[in-house]
Amino acid sequence: MRYAHIVGWGKYAPERVMTNDELATLVDTTDTWIRERTGIGQRHLAGPKDTCASIATAAAIEALDVANITAAQIGLIIVGTSTPDFAFPSTACLVQDALGADTAGAFDLSAACSGFVYGLSMAADAIKAGSIDYALVIGSDIMSRLLDWKDRNTCVLFGDGAGAVVLQASDQPGGLLTSLLRADGSGGDMLYVRNNYRDKAVVSTPHLSTALTPPAATGDGKVSDAGYIFMNGREVFRFGSRILAGATREIAARAGWELGDIDLIIPHQANNRIIESAAKSLALPLEKMFINIEHYANTSAATIPIAICDAVNNGRLRPNDKVILVGFGAGLTWAAAALQWGTPRVLSRTNRTLNRVRLGLANVRSRARRVFRRLEDSLSSNVDHPVKSPVSPASGPDRSGTAVVETEREGKV
Ligand code: UT7
Repeated sequence: MRYAHIVGWGKYAPERVMTNDELATLVDTTDTWIRERTGIGQRHLAGPKDTCASIATAAAIEALDVANITAAQIGLIIVGTSTPDFAFPSTACLVQDALGADTAGAFDLSAACSGFVYGLSMAADAIKAGSIDYALVIGSDIMSRLLDWKDRNTCVLFGDGAGAVVLQASDQPGGLLTSLLRADGSGGDMLYVRNNYRDKAVVSTPHLSTALTPPAATGDGKVSDAGYIFMNGREVFRFGSRILAGATREIAARAGWELGDIDLIIPHQANNRIIESAAKSLALPLEKMFINIEHYANTSAATIPIAICDAVNNGRLRPNDKVILVGFGAGLTWAAAALQWGTPRVLSRTNRTLNRVRLGLANVRSRARRVFRRLEDSLSSNVDHPVKSPVSPASGPDRSGTAVVETEREGKV
């Protein structure tokens, strides 16, 4: 029988830290209100050069080092994100290219804050089915780019970051034992971001009219501006508290565990009070809940993998511990997984060095492929279209997810 064990973990939090006091200079709020109502003390904010792909890659490199494997061994890369750099290509493809993961399939998974646990469950199933031996599952979000910095109801809650784990096939019992994935789209209007490009639709698509109808206004009747988060905080709060407790009960039962057997619950970090209320409803001591929201705020799909890293670093995860991961978010979506934590890994310097060499090579190879494609393109367009248009723009991502704009006249911009 095949099992899927977490054997590597890594995180990336951008250097720039914004404290609650600094935030209070932007909107009408206070450090005391934010701490008391949410537990948040600060958040990390992506810099202008950070992209969803670049922070995901940074977390992934750390996870590969801990797992003691090279990128060439990975069969699948899943990135849970709500803030991809592009509609396509996926963030996962940019990470694949940056790592030089030659034999990996790669895709993004859109399940908001539940995205990481969704991805973990799917990757574990692929491993258990025998399709792949190693998977990289990442949660990466730059929430600050979706925030209306004048809306105190939302801008105090979120932060930026990425977390990653490596899953490995093994015949040793343990690892990810069971998972549950759920959704209730009728609650989509409780928490959403309208696409910026939706309003550009010019083609009449009557058969899609239902799907294209914007979410109904909620609460105070407000509908968010395109590109910004809208949240009905109180309803999401109630939903989150109910789900953290309910999904924990359900997944524990599926794993054959009593609630008292659980060593640690790693919940989505949206609000301290949601976690406290779930602990109370489960009649478990708060110490069973891992909480690190104070340092990062809500980093959406990244909260749980970042929390896994911090739990390991703080000695909260020991071999054979019974652990529950439980997330919830927009969609509405929720997901939970029961896992038996594995044994600690010994870092190998050789693989770490190999990974750095591979990263350098991946960079060179990616550039070489782009140059080759351009050459091929210009040779074939000389044959097919002897008269060229004066400027033929081609815009696209480079390997970090930064947009690269090229024109024949100007070269790279
Ligand atoms: O990833 C999942 C997504 N998000 C969540 O899970 C968040 C779920 N919701 C929550 O965490 C909470 O509902 C919030 C933190 C958003 C709000 O906390 P609350 O205790 O439910 O506050 P409230 O909405 O009931 O508002 C209480 C008061 C209001 O003032 P009035 O009307 O009583 O005068 C708000 O205007 O707090 C006010 N308020 C603030 N005051 C200072 C709302 N935001 C702020 C703020 N600073 N940032």
